[in-house]
Amino acid sequence: MTDKFDVKGDLENIFQFHLVLIICSIFFRGVLHLSNELAFTRHQGVNMFNVEFRLAAPLRWAMIGGGRGSQIGNIHRNAAQRYGLFNLVAGAFDVDAERCRDFGVAIGLDADRCYANYHEMFECEAQREDGIQAVSIATPNCFHYEMTKAALEHGLHVVCEKPITFTVAEAEELKALAEEKNLAICVTYGYTGHQILHQAREMVQRGEIGQVRVINTMYAHGWHNEEIEATSPGLKWRVTPAVAGPSYVLGDTGTHAQYLAEFVTGEKLKRLCCMRQSFIESRAPLEDNAHVMMEYESGAVGTMWSLLSTVVPCTPIKSVWSVLKPLLSGGMSS
Ligand SMILES: NC(=O)c1ccc[n+]([C@@H]2O[C@H](COP(=O)([O-])OP(=O)(O)OC[C@H]3O[C@@H](n4cnc5c(N)ncnc54)[C@H](O)[C@@H]3O)[C@@H](O)[C@H]2O)c1
Repeated sequence: MTDKFDVKGDLENIFQFHLVLIICSIFFRGVLHLSNELAFTRHQGVNMFNVEFRLAAPLRWAMIGGGRGSQIGNIHRNAAQRYGLFNLVAGAFDVDAERCRDFGVAIGLDADRCYANYHEMFECEAQREDGIQAVSIATPNCFHYEMTKAALEHGLHVVCEKPITFTVAEAEELKALAEEKNLAICVTYGYTGHQILHQAREMVQRGEIGQVRVINTMYAHGWHNEEIEATSPGLKWRVTPAVAGPSYVLGDTGTHAQYLAEFVTGEKLKRLCCMRQSFIESRAPLEDNAHVMMEYESGAVGTMWSLLSTVVPCTPIKSVWSVLKPLLSGGMSS
């Protein structure tokens, strides 16, 4: 697949996948905006980096996925519980019920609140007076839609890993359901927690860099430059279309770069054109490299390079910087 251009064909899928990610960013922004009813006390003028707000009591919170050895589970637990706003009380952490229980108990949960699957967890927790109020979903991609929908139907706020769905229609359906039930859905784009991105966004909003004309982003690294998924279950599903969705590198890392671009500039994507490859041929039809040209609603244009498969002298942090540097130096301005 390395020599083929995907300007047609799968591009429709990819574009729709992008739209899902963009819709997520528009509709579900702000992990802490859980609901009006939750009564935050927040001091005027204090931003998220100097937290002074408290809930009446921490949210009783559960996780689906994120079990022992997973990539992102521990990050959710560390971040969510840092300020005492969430308290992990239950989990369906793992595909393996025994491992789930062993893991849950090891991190301090009651054994009877470590569930074999999320159906059982939602049913049992709903019977308890102290049952869960919110849930994080940190499983492989293909489960996000069904789990988010079930959680909303059980009256739970949801923090879901990206991508929340594979299609725009599914994302719209979840949005409508959350609104109907006055519940929040949040998608975790963790890089936006960096202070410098908020600084950059404020500079754009204040007009300090003038009109945004060109937005170039890059999230490129070489950690997967060999077929390492052959020996890693946590990577194998990422190159399996039925589990990962219609994209590998764009959905896994490019989405972060694109979200940052929109977060910082406030621009909204209008259309794109993509060339993508599977340098590791066994990954086809999913790509491990992509070059994307974009046009934004305002008329701004740009590019994104998303790569997992070649050793390059750059890291995710540098890729964040690639968004910021032109901004802070005025290079993106008119
Ligand atoms: N926001 C980010 O920066 C970021 C970073 C990494 C991963 N992610 C996302 O997080 C999700 C998980 O990725 P990961 O790398 O941690 O995956 P992983 O394969 O390392 O871990 C997945 C975990 O989910 C569990 N699991 C799988 N199916 C399950 C099911 N049906 N019910 C309960 N548990 C189940 C597994 O046992 C495992 O503990 C993916 O959607 C990925 O895109 C996001």
